[in-house]
Amino acid sequence: MTFTTREREQAATRLLEASAKHSHDPETELDWEAPFEEGKYFWPPELCSLYGTQLWKHMSEEQRIELSRHESASLASIGIWFEIILMQLLLRHAYDLDPTSAHVRYALTEIAEECRHSKMFARLVTRLGTPVYRPTRADHNLGRILKAVSTTPGSFTGTLLAEEILDWMQRLTFPDERIQPLTRGVTRIHVVEESRHIRFAREELARQMTTAPRWQTALTRASSAEAARVISRSLISPQVYASVGLDPAYAAGLARTSPHRRDVLRQSAAKLMDFLEELGMLRGPARRLWQSSGLLG
Ligand SMILES: [Fe+2]
Ligand SMILES: [Fe+2]
Repeated sequence: MTFTTREREQAATRLLEASAKHSHDPETELDWEAPFEEGKYFWPPELCSLYGTQLWKHMSEEQRIELSRHESASLASIGIWFEIILMQLLLRHAYDLDPTSAHVRYALTEIAEECRHSKMFARLVTRLGTPVYRPTRADHNLGRILKAVSTTPGSFTGTLLAEEILDWMQRLTFPDERIQPLTRGVTRIHVVEESRHIRFAREELARQMTTAPRWQTALTRASSAEAARVISRSLISPQVYASVGLDPAYAAGLARTSPHRRDVLRQSAAKLMDFLEELGMLRGPARRLWQSSGLLG
C-alpha cells in the first residue's frame, strides 16, 4: 500500500465510523404534520435574495415571510438537482475502484445519505406548498454536459461548491429561533451529515490535484469555474418572485446587483475559495470565469 492509499483508507474508515454514529432518518425524526408557526420565517431574512434592496424595504412583513417560504423551497428543489448530479459523479468515481476498500464503502454510504437528503428536500417542498422550482432549461442541459465530461477533480470541486455554499447558509438557519421548526430540523440534519461529505471531498480533491496530469488540471479549472457560474445563478429561481406577486425580471435584476446579496454569496464561498486557491484551481485564464460566478471576491 502506498502512503496515499493508506492515508485515504484511514480517512474513509474514520468517516464510516462517524456516519454509523451520527446519521438521521428525516422520515421519523421530523414532525412533518405540525402546523407552521404564525409570524416565523422559512429562511433567515438576511439570506433572502432581496434583503436590503429598495423593494425589500417596501414589502410588508407577510410578503417577506412569503418570499422566504418560496426561496427556501427554491434552495431545496435546486438542492435535489445538485444532489442527483453528485450521486452520479460519486458512482462514476467508484466504478473504477476496489469495491471492498473503505474509500468505496464510504462513497456508497455518502450516496445513501444523499438519497435520504433528496427525499427530505422533496418532502419539504411538498409541505411548503410551493411550485417545484427548477434551473432554466439551458442550465439543466449544461448540468448534463458538465457531469458527463467532468474530470475526477472536477467532480469533487463541483461537489464542494454545492455543499459548502448551502452548508454556510444552513449553519445560520438551524440555530435561528425566528425560523420555522421544520426548516430548522431539515437544515440541522443536513449540516450534521454534510460535514463528513465536505471533509471527504476536500481530502480527495487535494490528493487528486497533486497527481492529476497537467491537461486534466487545466480542463478542471475551466469546467469547475463554469460549474460555479451555473450553481450560483441557479440557487434562487426568478419564479419565486412571481409567486409573491413581484415582477420576476425586475426583482432578479435587483438581487443580482444588490451589494448585500453579492456579499452573502461571496461569504458563503469564502472558505472554499481560499482552499481552491491553495490547490491552484483559480489560476490562469479561468480566474475571470470564477470571478464572474460572484463567488470569488
Ligand atoms: Fe445532502
Ligand atoms: Fe453531500
